[in-house]
Amino acid sequence: MSDFNPLDLSLDLPLVLLSNRGPVRFDRDATGRTVTRGAGGLVSALSGLAEHLDDAVWVCGAASEEDVAVAGESAGSSILVQTYPSPRLVEGDPDGPAIRVRLVVTDPTAYADFYSVWSNPVLWFIQHGLYGRSLSPVFTRAEHDAFENGYAAVNRAYADAVVDEVRARGGKALVLLQDYHFYLVADWVREQCPDAVLTHFIHIPWPGPDEWRILPADIRERLLRGLLGSDVVGFHTRRYARNFVLCAQELLGLPIDLEQLTVTVADRVVRARYHPISVDPAALDATQASEEVAAHVAMLRYIFLDDDRQLILRVDRTDPSKNVVRGFLAFGTLLDQHPELVGKVSFLALLQPSRTDVPEYADYIALIGAVVAEINARHTKEGRQPIDLRMVEDFPLAVAAYSICDVLIVNAIADGMNLVAKEVAVVNRRGGVLALSEMAGAHEELGEFAVTLHPFDVQQMADALYTALTMPMEERHRRLAAAARQVRTHDVRRWLDDQLVDLRRVAGFG
Ligand code: G6P
Repeated sequence: MSDFNPLDLSLDLPLVLLSNRGPVRFDRDATGRTVTRGAGGLVSALSGLAEHLDDAVWVCGAASEEDVAVAGESAGSSILVQTYPSPRLVEGDPDGPAIRVRLVVTDPTAYADFYSVWSNPVLWFIQHGLYGRSLSPVFTRAEHDAFENGYAAVNRAYADAVVDEVRARGGKALVLLQDYHFYLVADWVREQCPDAVLTHFIHIPWPGPDEWRILPADIRERLLRGLLGSDVVGFHTRRYARNFVLCAQELLGLPIDLEQLTVTVADRVVRARYHPISVDPAALDATQASEEVAAHVAMLRYIFLDDDRQLILRVDRTDPSKNVVRGFLAFGTLLDQHPELVGKVSFLALLQPSRTDVPEYADYIALIGAVVAEINARHTKEGRQPIDLRMVEDFPLAVAAYSICDVLIVNAIADGMNLVAKEVAVVNRRGGVLALSEMAGAHEELGEFAVTLHPFDVQQMADALYTALTMPMEERHRRLAAAARQVRTHDVRRWLDDQLVDLRRVAGFG
C-alpha cells in the first residue's frame, strides 16, 4: 500500500487515467476468479495516486478472458477494486484503498492490428531506432488498413470510454494518458470535452523528425496532431521533449519555442515537459528484506560467487531494443581477450519473454538462444558454463540478483528510462557497477556514476565490462552510494508530484 497523499497538492479535479495495461488483472483457476495487481513501476506510481482519490477512474484494456467476463458483467461501466491488503473486487463500500477501473473490450482482430502491427513493432521500432531501413519497414495496403481498423479504431474505443468517464464527472477532469498506444486519443477527447485538462506521458524515446519520416505522411501527421490535442506532453528526458517540439515544427509547420519547449496550435499553447520516472525505494527495501529474497540470495551466492568469482547480471524483456545479443557478444569478446576470467566471471541473464506474437520478437528470442549456446560451447571450463540464461518473470529472484551482482549490464539501443538500473542502484550491497548505455534515459541521471556503454560497439562494451570488473572496491562503493543517493532523492513520488505541479499551473490552479 502506498502512502501517497495527493491532497498535499490540492488536486482539485477528478482524475481519469488511461493506459493499455491496467492496475489489476483477472484470471480463473481451480478456486474460481483470481485478481492480481499489475506489475511494474507505472502501475505502482499511478495506483498510489488513484487509490487516494474517490473520484478517480483508470481506463485500460481487458487483457485476459476473465477481464472480458468482468467487463461484461459490469455492462461497460467501471468496477471497484480494493487494492489492500490483497486485490479484490468490491460491490459496496471498500474498507481499504480502492481503485475504480473501466475495462475496455475491443474486437480481437482490431486489437491485434493495434498492438502487434502498429504499436509493436511499427511505433516501438521507429521510436527506438530499430529499423534497418534497407528492407524494412514496408507499408502496403495491409498496414494502412491495420492502422485504420486497428490502431485508430482501438484508440477511438478507448477515447470514447475516457469521454464517458469525463462526462460522468461533469465534463471537467484531469486526464492522464500513458504511452505510445494512444497517440490519437487526446485530440478526440478534447473535441468532446473541451474543459478537460489533458496530459499525455510518453515512456519511450521520442526521436527527431527524420526518424518519423519513415512513416506514411498522412499517418505521422495524424499521430502528431492527435498528441497535440493534449495540454502537456511529457517525456523522461529533455532530449526527447526537444525532439517532439522539432517534429511539430518540421513535420507540421507549426510555430514553436525551443527554449520554452512549446508548440502553438491555433489559439492553444502545448507544452512539452520532461520528468524522469523512477522507482519506489521503500517498496524495494521491503522486498529486499523478505525471506523469499534472502533464500534466493543464498542460492545465487552459492552458484555464482564462491571462490572469489564475479557476477554480471542483466534483467530485461526479450526486446530487440534491449540489445541482448550484442551484450552477449561483448561478454564473449571479454572472455576471448581475457582468458584468465574464464571460470571466474559468470553472466546471469533473467529474461522475460515479451510480445511473442510479433515475428520480430519471436525471431529475437531464437537468436538469443543461439548466441548463448555458441559462447557457452566456446568457454565452458571445468563443467561451468559462463552464461546462465533463464526465461523467467520473478521479481524476488531479480531483487536477490540485483543485491549481489558485481556488474549490471544495460546496453539498450534506446530505452525511454530503464528502471532496472535505478532498482540496482537502490538494492545492491556489493559495490555493483552500473554498465549503462548512453542511449538509456537513465544515463542522464546515473551516467556519471556508471561505466558508459556504446550499444553498437562490441569491443568498447567488452573493454567497459573489463573496467567494471577490475575497478577498485572503494571506487565501486563510492559510485554506487552516489547513484543510490540520486535515486532515493528522485523517487517515483517526485516524478508524479512534479507532473501534478505542472498540470495545476496549466489548469490555472497554481
Ligand atoms: C514498456 C512500455 C509500456 C509497456 C511495457 C511492457 O515499458 O513503455 O507501455 O506496457 O513496455 O510491454 P507490453 O507490450 O508487455 O505491455
